[in-house]
Amino acid sequence: MAYQITALSGDGIGPELMASGLQVLNQIGERFEHRFTIQEKPFGGIAIEEQGNPLPAETVTACQQADAILLGAIGGEQWQNSENTPEMGLLRLRKELRLFANLRPITVPNSVAHLSPLKAEIVTGSDFVVVRELTGGLYFGEPKELREFDAVDTLHYTKKEIDRIVRYAFELAMTRRKKITSVDKANVLATSKLWRQTVEEIRTDFPEVTVEHLYVDAASMLLIQRPTEFDVLVTENLFGDILSDEASVLTGSLGMLPSASHSVSGPSLYEPIHGSAPDIAGKNCANPMSMILSVALMLRQSFGLHEEANAIELAADQIMRNGYLTADLGGSTTTTDFTKQLCKKIREGGSD
Ligand code: NAD
Ligand code: IPM
Ligand code: MN
Repeated sequence: MAYQITALSGDGIGPELMASGLQVLNQIGERFEHRFTIQEKPFGGIAIEEQGNPLPAETVTACQQADAILLGAIGGEQWQNSENTPEMGLLRLRKELRLFANLRPITVPNSVAHLSPLKAEIVTGSDFVVVRELTGGLYFGEPKELREFDAVDTLHYTKKEIDRIVRYAFELAMTRRKKITSVDKANVLATSKLWRQTVEEIRTDFPEVTVEHLYVDAASMLLIQRPTEFDVLVTENLFGDILSDEASVLTGSLGMLPSASHSVSGPSLYEPIHGSAPDIAGKNCANPMSMILSVALMLRQSFGLHEEANAIELAADQIMRNGYLTADLGGSTTTTDFTKQLCKKIREGGSD
């Protein structure tokens, strides 16, 4: 089969990670005889430099026309004061493509449990998905304004937006261990009261699913105290942003976590959950796993290529077990060497 992918490398470590992800994809294409056609487009700070706009129209069009989109990372100090920041470009892209459902899977296989700063017996076996609402809430609410002596952001959710993401989470839970943890701040926020009420209504359509409600402050503690008890954690935009970075610590590094963003129809977007990591950019030391696992998610969720996705995850697990680890996980393997080892393992068919 042939697949058309739009690649947005972005800024900082984005291009290093994209190069790694595309090499792995290429290797999969060779072994399983698929043709992946890549169209690279400017996005983020680099697009501001080239065209004065973080999200040029040609980039949006290429994304809309693709079978799937891969994104590295965007952002950097140098563009924080521009009128239209890379981050605004990212939010506009998510909105344009209506990517309302952001899935951030967190798994800690036995082989890497000892790499977490948390005790191995606490994190071992953790396997859950953060389902983050991605096109509403504080990120998009109006008015949003920065004035000299005050500023305002608006937290607004319609019932329809909540219903859509919560149903998505329930349906996902039905394919997993059938447990939902809904995270809100319903003791204070009106939007959270509506959120909780909506979850209570929807659960009657899914009688097999166990439902737990947590306030976000307690959830942030329980995530690292009893991570193995989560299955599907569904929450609004900002809470999901924060909790997923926290959850990455279970795996040992922020550089381990991929994500998938889906709309009702149209191409999905796959990207690491982290940013452009300016502190390590250009040093060939970033952990490419977040991007490589995003490629695996794309193969599975957009193209239904399960065997191919499994081959990547298995090979990555094997080389990490064999000691190929980047600096964030306490090793000294470079980004390019890690990628080379992984491609070799995929070529060999994943045997030890
Ligand atoms: P960050 O996620 O870029 O980095 C946080 C820390 O994690 C840094 O110490 C970094 O070195 C480390 N890290 C991140 N990814 C890593 C990897 N793959 N391997 C090893 N270490 C890794 O967050 P930040 O420094 O707060 O933000 C930097 C820029 O990225 C900002 O402009 C921010 O807005 C942007 N950002 C973009 C995205 C995105 O593109 N989706 C996401 C988050 C932040
Ligand atoms: C993420 C990032 C973005 C977000 C920023 C860069 C706008 O932190 O993808 O998690 O907050 O959604
Ligand atoms: Mn984030």
